[in-house]
Amino acid sequence: MGERADVKVLFAISEVYPLIKTGGLADVGYSLPHAMHQNGVDVRLMLPAYRAVLAQLPAIRILGWLALQGEGRVHQVRIIEVHPDGFAFPVWLVDCPELYDRPGNPYASDDDQDWPDNAERFAVLAHAVAAMAQDVLGIGWRPDVVHANDWQTGLVPALLADIPNHPKLVFTIHNLSYGGNFSLTAFQQLGLPQHWWTVEGVEFYGGFSMLKAGIVYADEVTTVSPTYAREICTAEFGCGLEGVLQASRHKLHGILNGIDETVWDPQTDPYLSAHYSAERRHPGKVLNKQALLHHFNMDHSDGILHVPLLGLVGRLVAQKGIDLVLSVLPHCLEHINARFVVVGSGQAEYENQLLELARRYPQRLGVFIGYDEHLAHLLEAGLDIFLMPSRFEPCGLNQMYSLRYGTPPVVYRTGGLADTVFDATDSNVSDGIANGFVFDELTPQGLIAAIERAVVLYTQPRKWQALQRTGMKQCLGWRHSAMTYLALYRGQAVTLKTADDR
Ligand code: ADP
Ligand code: GLC
Repeated sequence: MGERADVKVLFAISEVYPLIKTGGLADVGYSLPHAMHQNGVDVRLMLPAYRAVLAQLPAIRILGWLALQGEGRVHQVRIIEVHPDGFAFPVWLVDCPELYDRPGNPYASDDDQDWPDNAERFAVLAHAVAAMAQDVLGIGWRPDVVHANDWQTGLVPALLADIPNHPKLVFTIHNLSYGGNFSLTAFQQLGLPQHWWTVEGVEFYGGFSMLKAGIVYADEVTTVSPTYAREICTAEFGCGLEGVLQASRHKLHGILNGIDETVWDPQTDPYLSAHYSAERRHPGKVLNKQALLHHFNMDHSDGILHVPLLGLVGRLVAQKGIDLVLSVLPHCLEHINARFVVVGSGQAEYENQLLELARRYPQRLGVFIGYDEHLAHLLEAGLDIFLMPSRFEPCGLNQMYSLRYGTPPVVYRTGGLADTVFDATDSNVSDGIANGFVFDELTPQGLIAAIERAVVLYTQPRKWQALQRTGMKQCLGWRHSAMTYLALYRGQAVTLKTADDR
């Protein structure tokens, strides 16, 4: 544990691993507060009491009841404290069955339709966080900092900004492309203050944006990599909020996410078929490759184990460049001696095209559509090369997991990918800096050229192993970024780092 920080932080977020997860947000929802706790910060974590979360938690303590404004109605909401296994601090759940006790994921039903009452669901979450920040229940704990994340908690800074002596309001953008945009009618029915409804406030193209509310009213805004912090101030990446972000530059910081080095450790990961380390990759890594091929009913005999295995796990959405992967896969399957594995779920047309290709090339391509934590870990370990040609990537955790698992990634130079992956140019390889493959042209040709470079280097064991070792030994944990957040919490100067500063 580091020195005592004497800072109390209420951390509000809509998903937290392992309680509930749709993507990297949940991983950070667990690992960042824990990194802060290890630095002596007194943390409380707050999220909705979704059905799936409550089902895992036998013991609860009721902290009290709050009457909170919903959409044209008032909810009686229970705040409960839980101590889930593996959590070093209390977790506060906002229990409101009519809003959160339902199947599906935090944002959408099982058939992937956004819940129609999302504006109300997350407005109530924000009211609950704002109430707990002011210790309305009188439990004797008042935060110095309220740290909200993404649009689902974007109203938190707005609700607290007008209150005298309010805690420091930190807001982190994990993904600008999800704006939490709702109508004027919803705004009115939620009873939100009329004076917010300006271009300088929450109004956004005739509706309102909860993400914009977070940006405008927070004291400090962070995003999850230095490069993304610069990119979102441009029209290309700004999702219409670039003007607001440019105006907020004085309080905008790019702080790279870390990974949880305990959960993602090839030496101890319980989901792997065999363990391995940077010093002893063999035979552990190849045994995972064999297990992965076996899982997909693909040939996993000794001869095949020398053929490179490429693939990805992730949300199958445009952000991740899945269309690009689909446009190059037929060529790769026909012309490159390699095997492929894809795990993910998302847009139906991507899922269907992948399944169709897997039917045509059952020995070359394995596809699993769905969410599978076990398979995600096995894939990071069993692949030789990880594909992540994201069109934009605020930070990206998967490329960091693959670095740590000795699986060099192929990435497009954007956001957090640009900040963590260093291309295998001749000079980077000889300088011991290279850890993957970075391409600059977001086209099928650009991706194919990078894949071909990777496959060629794979046949040169000495260079390949150097690449793996560099990635596996890279500092990917929270150490550095936790100190930056701590400085921000304490009001010390934090300069906006760019990728070039690293
Ligand atoms: P994003 O948050 O944009 O989805 P990240 O790379 O930051 O991207 O994080 C993705 C996280 O979600 C990783 O922990 C990854 O393993 C996990 N993940 C994504 N899709 C799946 C899936 N289908 N099954 C299991 N884990 C998944
Ligand atoms: C978002 C981003 C991803 C980032 C994650 C955690 O889901 O898409 O790039 O790694 O949040 O911050």
